[in-house]
Amino acid sequence: MALPTNGTTADESRLDWNAARNLLAGLPGGGLNIAHEAVDRHVAEGAGGRRALISLGKRYERRVVTYAQLAESSSRVAGVLLGLGLQPGDTVAVLLDRSVELYQAAFGVWKAGGVFCPLFSAFGPGPLRSRLELSRAKVLIAGRSLYTRKVLPVRGNLPDLEHVLLVADEPDAAMGDHAGCRDFRALVVATAPAATVATTDKSPAFVHFTSGTTGTPKGAVHGHGAVLSHLVTGRQVFDLQADDIYWCTADPGWITNTACALILPLACGCTAMVDEAEFDPRRWYGILKEEKVTVWYTTPTNIRMMMRYGAALARTYRENSLRLAASVGEPLNPEAVTWGDKALGAPFLDTWWQTETGAIAIANPPGHGKPGSMGRPLPGVEAAVLTRSLSKVTVVDDPETVGELALKADLPSLFTAYVGDPGRYQAAFADGWYLTGDLVRRDADGYFWFVGRSDDMIKSAGHTIGPFEIECALMEHPAVAEIGVVGKPDLLLREVPVAFVSLNPGFEEGEALRLELLYFARQQLGSAIAPREIQFMDSMPKTTTGKILRRALKAKAVGEPDEDVVVPQGAHPGRFDDE
Ligand code: WTA
Repeated sequence: MALPTNGTTADESRLDWNAARNLLAGLPGGGLNIAHEAVDRHVAEGAGGRRALISLGKRYERRVVTYAQLAESSSRVAGVLLGLGLQPGDTVAVLLDRSVELYQAAFGVWKAGGVFCPLFSAFGPGPLRSRLELSRAKVLIAGRSLYTRKVLPVRGNLPDLEHVLLVADEPDAAMGDHAGCRDFRALVVATAPAATVATTDKSPAFVHFTSGTTGTPKGAVHGHGAVLSHLVTGRQVFDLQADDIYWCTADPGWITNTACALILPLACGCTAMVDEAEFDPRRWYGILKEEKVTVWYTTPTNIRMMMRYGAALARTYRENSLRLAASVGEPLNPEAVTWGDKALGAPFLDTWWQTETGAIAIANPPGHGKPGSMGRPLPGVEAAVLTRSLSKVTVVDDPETVGELALKADLPSLFTAYVGDPGRYQAAFADGWYLTGDLVRRDADGYFWFVGRSDDMIKSAGHTIGPFEIECALMEHPAVAEIGVVGKPDLLLREVPVAFVSLNPGFEEGEALRLELLYFARQQLGSAIAPREIQFMDSMPKTTTGKILRRALKAKAVGEPDEDVVVPQGAHPGRFDDE
């Protein structure tokens, strides 16, 4: 079946999802399983010797894994999990760096019929504990030192967690005994491959937590049926072919890794480049060039960091094999698009999606990109700009009008639940639309332009951070009476979280307490979400209903007076009115 691309005419943008299902192989005995579509299928079709992964360890330890090898090792992981008593729908949490073991674990969990729940290694024990609790993970597969530093301190609070499998930090090293944990690599080698459990497109396959403005983090659940979207978007957005070397730099805790580093490239049958190390410009340019990467998917923050090192460095690596580069996570400034073209010989195409959409939904078509825009909806994706009042939504057809971005709720990759929270899930839909919470405008050519969030979420270096989680963590410090967290604009990271704090009696504002609070937050939350700045306030600006007025804090964070905020006559000092 020839797939339509997201070209520039209306006819090009039709895709019948039912017809597209023919692109999938399906399990030999019936049913659908991501691991079969992305790995075993290629082996069955005679491509077992093709490279599935090229993986680099932190010290450039290079491992090449074929599709046949990944099929076998992931079936062994399934055998291990089934041997531990994993039942269909049980959650397996994973706290691993980008590595071969991450792929083995993910595809092994899917083969065993489990739910894969990857976690951010930059999180501290607090956020890890809440996610492990909410997901009710029965098994955890973790890097040894990550586990010791971040999970061991809270393990006593995780009654659902029955088994911990640890991966030694050194590649190929055995691990030896570690209290209450088992050696993942040793178990995998010693266990016979298991047959893939017969899942269907509706069976839950993975859960990713994303922050909410209030309440606990939301665990968005996705079914095995999502693999159709990953296969289709891999072709539509990146035009991936068997000989492509595709590199997605996302952190394993982010859905971009699960969807676009684990599933998408392998569903398309190409080779995925995997680099364990964190960002380093020379290393990254070196990988692009030496490993002959043809398609690269990264984030605006990473692109801006590379730009900081200058075009001269980039030009040394100008002789590369890149044919396409793309970005996701935050708006991509037009300068970055042109920079990519000049420095790397491939402009960055911006793409848009969310944890909830599960797969890329909007993208700039190669050759027809509009720098600064998110692009056009992919074929098969119906996107609209809406206004809502209470539960009523109205589609806005006029171009250039700002409203909320909504997608028709028929996407195979769309989330199927928030763990344990049906009310929140339902509230995300109206009239057959999934409401994204992003404010956008659409131009006359059908390109979408990002305007902002309709809520208080903070986007920092691609992470979606809920202010509430930071506020709860800092409230646990005895000095903190009240707290409000907002995003402050940052040239490199787009935003950084800033905490405004008022103190309990008996505590003194000052540098010592500021540093103590910053340290406390970092210990609890980890570097990815801890606030970068603490500012003391005598009292918090509030709405008439007593809620902290983030708008006023935001104005303070940028150092501007908030014109909207007026102190009403006779109001309690320190209280501001809402509207
Ligand atoms: C933001 C999973 C502007 C947006 C991929 C969205 C973007 C949130 C873009 C999702 C883009 C993502 N331009 N904003 N191209 N892509 N976003 O679930 O606010 O961690 O709702 O991402 O990131 O964040 P999430």
